[in-house]
Amino acid sequence: MPKRYIPNDKWSRRAAEEGYRARSVYKLMELDDKFHIIRSGMTVLDLGAAPGSWLQYAAEEVGSKGRVIGIDLTEIAPIDNVETYVENITNIEAIQKIVPETVDLIISDLAPKTSGIRDVDQWKSIELSQAVVETAQQILRPGGKCILKVLRGADFDDFITECKEKWKKVKITSVQASRDRSNEIYVILWK
Ligand SMILES: C[S@@+](CC[C@H](N)C(=O)[O-])C[C@H]1O[C@@H](n2cnc3c(N)ncnc32)[C@H](O)[C@@H]1O
Repeated sequence: MPKRYIPNDKWSRRAAEEGYRARSVYKLMELDDKFHIIRSGMTVLDLGAAPGSWLQYAAEEVGSKGRVIGIDLTEIAPIDNVETYVENITNIEAIQKIVPETVDLIISDLAPKTSGIRDVDQWKSIELSQAVVETAQQILRPGGKCILKVLRGADFDDFITECKEKWKKVKITSVQASRDRSNEIYVILWK
């Protein structure tokens, strides 16, 4: 008989009980509680969206008048009222073809494939974050917000300095649902 997977941390257990696909959903909920990010009727683009817990939450919050689009290298199993695409988010031209008009909000919980070498993983995270920011500059509407996860490390301060030069407001925050030893941090950008 197949064994049922029982997650061993409290956030994963809660996600399984509440029908979310990943524990990461509680990170977005916490950010939303703090910064009132997602509202009814919004168009939301999620970059690096698989397996889809952020998409599930975003779809609940934007409601039937909103639109939620998720993109990942990995196929995302269908979610009601969510459009999903398989694409590399660093291919900005392809992203612009998927989303030709502007969006109200970009969310990104992107995680590079880990190499096990902390500096390399952090550098890859910055590279992905730069692609998210570039995409956001093209397709986020004026007044829109972009929220992205970044791994803190040697290049982090330079990345934030660049953001501060180009965006109206930049906020750095952490969330309780991150794993204890994690060096992940969330950056919120206002256009
Ligand atoms: C932590 S997961 C996202 C979890 C998601 N927020 C959720 O709640 O289900 C990070 C995702 O980033 C995706 N990813 C990493 N590099 C990518 C790239 N270059 N283009 C698209 N997706 C990428 C991975 O495939 C992975 O699914």
